[in-house]
Amino acid sequence: MSMKPLTILGIETSCDETAAAVLRLHEHGPEVLSDIVLGQAAQHAPYKGVVPEIAARAHVEGLDGTIALAMREAGLGFGALDGVAATAGPGLIGGVLVGLTAGKAIALAHGLPLIAVNHLEGHALSPRLSGKGATFPYLLLLVSGGHCQFIAVMNVGVYRRLGTTVDDALGEAFDKLAKLLDLGFPGGPLVEQAARAGDSTRFSLPRPLLGREGCDFSFAGLKTACVREAERLGAPNYQDKADLCASFQAAVLDIVTDRTRNAMALFDPIWGAKGRLVAAGGVAANLALRGKLEALAAERNYDFVAPPLKWCTDNAAMIALAGAERLRLGFSDELSFVARPRWPLDEAAAASRPSHAPGRKGAKA
Ligand code: KG4
Ligand code: ZN
Repeated sequence: MSMKPLTILGIETSCDETAAAVLRLHEHGPEVLSDIVLGQAAQHAPYKGVVPEIAARAHVEGLDGTIALAMREAGLGFGALDGVAATAGPGLIGGVLVGLTAGKAIALAHGLPLIAVNHLEGHALSPRLSGKGATFPYLLLLVSGGHCQFIAVMNVGVYRRLGTTVDDALGEAFDKLAKLLDLGFPGGPLVEQAARAGDSTRFSLPRPLLGREGCDFSFAGLKTACVREAERLGAPNYQDKADLCASFQAAVLDIVTDRTRNAMALFDPIWGAKGRLVAAGGVAANLALRGKLEALAAERNYDFVAPPLKWCTDNAAMIALAGAERLRLGFSDELSFVARPRWPLDEAAAASRPSHAPGRKGAKA
């Protein structure tokens, strides 16, 4: 039976990007009709991190215009939509409320189904936006400002967490180092840039959990070691900073490679055939990390897929895709759906290890 294409407006406001996108899901895959991201970096930069109150206000001010632009670029009126998908968590709750409420209002006014999307599901499905190769099932490394986990993505809505961070998320570690070295905001790309000019052997930094079994992560020890080295440097010049960034990034790459090897060993018996490794989330925009993962995948006879850089960081196209996929399966949500500051993707795994606080995306300051 051939499927009618579904046209979905996606809304994303869970952190510091105000985003709206229109996506059409055809039987053969998604088509992004518009994809607007209004960043807030300038508002947060003086504080060197995301300030939740400022983020929520900026979403209020920017969301209407962002949605209007997304609809205009798609050349559609609300009547042409089949549904509205809005991020309903996890994230900074003020921002999530702004986007979810806007989504509910549009759904109510135009008699459309609402799909309350888990932001992590958006990231998990984002490699499917470009339609190249990310067929189910795949081993997902989700690395963002609030999350660092391995998930076996079996199908839409079927996620099994294999490992997670026991302390900080990887993006958070990048952001903290940038703040420590006064590199600017947002931190991740600036650390990557500085690392390119640095000597990665100058500082010997710890690699927590390296060689241990399983595929959990820990970055607290690495972060503390960076703080200690920065204190020792006193007033570092740019070369000092670049060397510390390069040494940090080298440690990160060693850790991620080691953990990914173990995650593959856990994933292989679940799947069996040639595996597929997928990286998503803001830190997956890091080219050194992508290169390392690609090499590891080749070594282990895995395919490697990562979304284009613009779909690694927060965007609404991935939310629209998650909404469309869910709607296609017959899922939609009540207008009374309550926004969730915490919302793990694999609820069963999260419940068994509550101390790991998965699914939380807090201020990245
Ligand atoms: O997915 P995302 O936009 O927001 C969350 O859901 O958290 O991820 C943002 C995170 C930030 O911590 C940012 O510093 C990091 O991704 N990031 C990077 C790079 N680009 C963004 N980290 C390392 N290297 C990059 N090139
Ligand atoms: Zn995100």
